[in-house]
Amino acid sequence: MTLQEQLAQLRDTFTKQYGCQPTHGAFAPGRVNLIGEHTDYNDGFVCPIAIERQTMILAKPNATNTINVYSIGMEDHPTSFQISENLSQGEPQWGNYVKGVIYGCLKQGINPGGFDAYISSTVPLGSGLSSSAALEVAVATLAADMAGQQLDVTDKALLCQKAEHDFANMPCGIMDQYISAGAIKGCAMLLDCQTNTPKHVKLADPSVSVLIINSNVKHQLSGSEYPQRREQCETAAKHLGVKSLRHATLQQLQAAKDNMESVVYKRALHVIGEIKRTAQAAKLMEQNAWEQVGKHMYDSHQTLSRDFEVSTNELDLLVELAKEMGLSGGVFGSRMTGGGFGGCTVSLVKSDKAQQISDHICKAYQRQTAIKPTAFVTRPAQGAHTLSL
Ligand code: GLA
Repeated sequence: MTLQEQLAQLRDTFTKQYGCQPTHGAFAPGRVNLIGEHTDYNDGFVCPIAIERQTMILAKPNATNTINVYSIGMEDHPTSFQISENLSQGEPQWGNYVKGVIYGCLKQGINPGGFDAYISSTVPLGSGLSSSAALEVAVATLAADMAGQQLDVTDKALLCQKAEHDFANMPCGIMDQYISAGAIKGCAMLLDCQTNTPKHVKLADPSVSVLIINSNVKHQLSGSEYPQRREQCETAAKHLGVKSLRHATLQQLQAAKDNMESVVYKRALHVIGEIKRTAQAAKLMEQNAWEQVGKHMYDSHQTLSRDFEVSTNELDLLVELAKEMGLSGGVFGSRMTGGGFGGCTVSLVKSDKAQQISDHICKAYQRQTAIKPTAFVTRPAQGAHTLSL
C-alpha cells in the first residue's frame, strides 16, 4: 500500500467513525537496523534505516478534555482517556503507547487538548521492525503539532523512549525512536548513542537493496530476556571499571576474562566488537564497499547468536540460506535485526536479483520449518513528519 493509499483509506475510516474530516495528521516509519545490535544501551553506535512501512494518525480536536483513539484492525479495542498529569497504564495494551507519549508531552508543557483520532499501521507488529516506536513517534509528532509546539528529533526520541520504559515496561535503548523521528530519505543513520548525535550516510548505490525477511516467529521483548541482557552488560562494564561498554577495549576484556562470569564475558565480547564493527561498516557503506559491509553483517550475526544468545533457529536458518547463495547469487550479507528472539533478518542484496533471492530463501525456509515467512524490499525512508490534509 502506498502512502497516498494509506492516507485515503484512513481518512475514509476516520470520517465514517467521527462524522467529520480530520484536521491534523502525522506519520512515523518503522525501522530496520543494518548493523549495531544491542549497542545503543551501551552508549555505542547503531546504523538503522527507516523503512517504507509506517504508522499514520489522523485527528480532530473535540473541544473536551478526552482523547479517543481507534486503530484499524483493533476496532473493538479503542483507547480513551482524560488528559491529566496522573495518567497510568491500563487496557487496551496498545493504548499505553499513546498514553505514555501524551504523559511525556504534558510533562514538557505540550498539551494537544482533547481530540478524536484514528490510526493505521503498515509496520508488522512484534517483528523487530519497531512498530511500537513508530506509534509513539507518530503520536508525539501529532501532539506537538496540535499544541502548536516544536519538538526536536532528540527530545522527541527521548520522550518516546521514556514512554516505552514507563508505560510498556520495556527498557529499550534510543535507536528505534531516534531513527523513526530523524531519518532522512535515502540515508542510513550512524547514531552515536553516547551523545545522541546522528551522521546521515547516503545509500546512493541503486544496485544494492535492503531485503527484510520475517521469520514469522514472534517475540515479546518486554519479557525477561532483554532487561537481563542490559543488566549483564552493566555488570560487565562495572567489572571492567568503565562507565559503559563503549569505553572498554577487547584487550581490557581479555585481561579480565578469568575473573568474570563466562556469560557476562560473552555479552561484553559481542558488544565491544559490535560497536567497532558498526562504525567501520558505516564508513564502508559510504565507499559502496558492499562485500565488506556484508562480511561485517555476517560477523554481527554470528556473535549475536553465539555470544549474545538472542537469535533463534529460524533466524540462523534464514542467514545460513542467504550465505549459501553468496556473492555469486547476489547476496552481500545478512543478519538478524532488532532485539532478537524471533522477528526478521536484514540482507543487503543486488537489486536486480532481490526478488529471486527472496523467493529462493523463503521457499527453502518454508520447506525446512513449515512456517511461511514474509519478505519485502525497502529503500531508506523519511522520518516522522506532519501530514498536510
Ligand atoms: C530493541 C530496542 C532497541 C535496541 C534493539 C537491539 O529494538 O528497542 O533500543 O536495543 O532492541 O539492538
